[in-house]
Amino acid sequence: MAGVTRRQFLCACAGAAAARGEPGQVDIELEASAFSAPLGSTGAPFWGYNNQLPGPLIEARAGDTLRLRFRNALREHTNLHFHGLHVSPEGNADNVFVMVEPGGGFTYEVAIPPDHPSGTFWYHPHVHGRTAGQVFRGMAGPLLIRGALDEIPEVAAAKEHLLVLQDFDPGGGEPSPTERMTGREGDVVAVSGRIRPRLAIERDGLARLRAINASASRYYRLRLDDHPLAWIATDGGALPGTRLLDEILLAPGQRADLLVRGDRPPGAYRLWNLPYDRGGMGMMRPARPAEVLAELVYDGAAERPVPLPERLLPFQPIEGGPAVTRVFQLSEGMMMQFLINGRAFDAARTDTRVRLGDVEEWEIRNTGQMDHPFHLHVNPFQVLGPAGAAEDAWRDVVNVPRGGRVRLRVRFADFPGRTVYHCHILDHEDLGMMGVVGMGGD
Ligand code: C2O
Ligand code: CU
Ligand code: CU
Repeated sequence: MAGVTRRQFLCACAGAAAARGEPGQVDIELEASAFSAPLGSTGAPFWGYNNQLPGPLIEARAGDTLRLRFRNALREHTNLHFHGLHVSPEGNADNVFVMVEPGGGFTYEVAIPPDHPSGTFWYHPHVHGRTAGQVFRGMAGPLLIRGALDEIPEVAAAKEHLLVLQDFDPGGGEPSPTERMTGREGDVVAVSGRIRPRLAIERDGLARLRAINASASRYYRLRLDDHPLAWIATDGGALPGTRLLDEILLAPGQRADLLVRGDRPPGAYRLWNLPYDRGGMGMMRPARPAEVLAELVYDGAAERPVPLPERLLPFQPIEGGPAVTRVFQLSEGMMMQFLINGRAFDAARTDTRVRLGDVEEWEIRNTGQMDHPFHLHVNPFQVLGPAGAAEDAWRDVVNVPRGGRVRLRVRFADFPGRTVYHCHILDHEDLGMMGVVGMGGD
């Protein structure tokens, strides 16, 4: 690849924190701090990285190593997690057991395997008990792995818009016990740090919307006026072929890569977040009306019409019968208890021991009154349909509806060590709905 092209994608963002050092190494400096930003007339300080909302865009390619010098200028502990990456959870890599104290620093080194899929990932803090509060104040940033998906000609021709979806509370107060139990939601939604931004699309061209649900608890049911959404990638990378959707639901932590074709009369079209009932209404969480997140605005015309791609990238199902089948029961106890298999999180305990290289099938049962989005670190999974066939999509978060169950297949590949699975409604994670998986040799 020519040096110029390589530079371009590194510096595509304003105020990029990434600079290319030696080949294959992406050097980044991140500082977590409190700061003010002109957003939604809030007087309360935001918390974030390098005084930006969202945090700076990190871009890398498979085979690169992220070398991230991190400083904590907050008054409480924090750390970093690289959500969705298939990388080591040990040492100074994607290790959520690392804690960086106030005023302290830590250098993360995350080696991205040479065969890592291209896709939309993100980073955020992961301090048990503090994660919801930190993310809700703004601590989250996008992380893109560039590669084969971006090189599909139609995708490469599309105008790219990153939609980091964050919600905030303009009052900035502490959440009530009820808000913590249901999962806090804010009255202001920012899309990559802007309120109701205008996203350009060329007539007869394509726009690429890369949405990241970086909110602590809010679900997004996305729909665009008069345009179908052409779904090309999930949490973990490309689908085998484009799928046309009227709408798509993103639970906290999930991502979607969507193409839109500019084949309507030029104008402005609203991108909606439609109401979704995730339960917990018994605790008086008011129903939220539909909200406009952004506007897609026609601007100019493509030199020549760009069609939607049909085929994307070959898809490799997880093969082999499961060595082990396990059940995880998610429950909401009395008195702010959020449990997995009857237990609240304990960092010192290893709840699930798996053998490196094994394929396992996990059944996640939700006996609670609210939906719980289940997330596993390090290894993405494939969700099994009712007939037992795996969806041809890689995910790392799956919504488990209240009273429902979801089965998934996962291979514990490449990386030994301890990491976690949890509900990605971050208040629930902070209140205990998290477990430790140990990946070892026996
Ligand atoms: Cu997005 Cu355990 O996290
Ligand atoms: Cu994660
Ligand atoms: Cu939950």
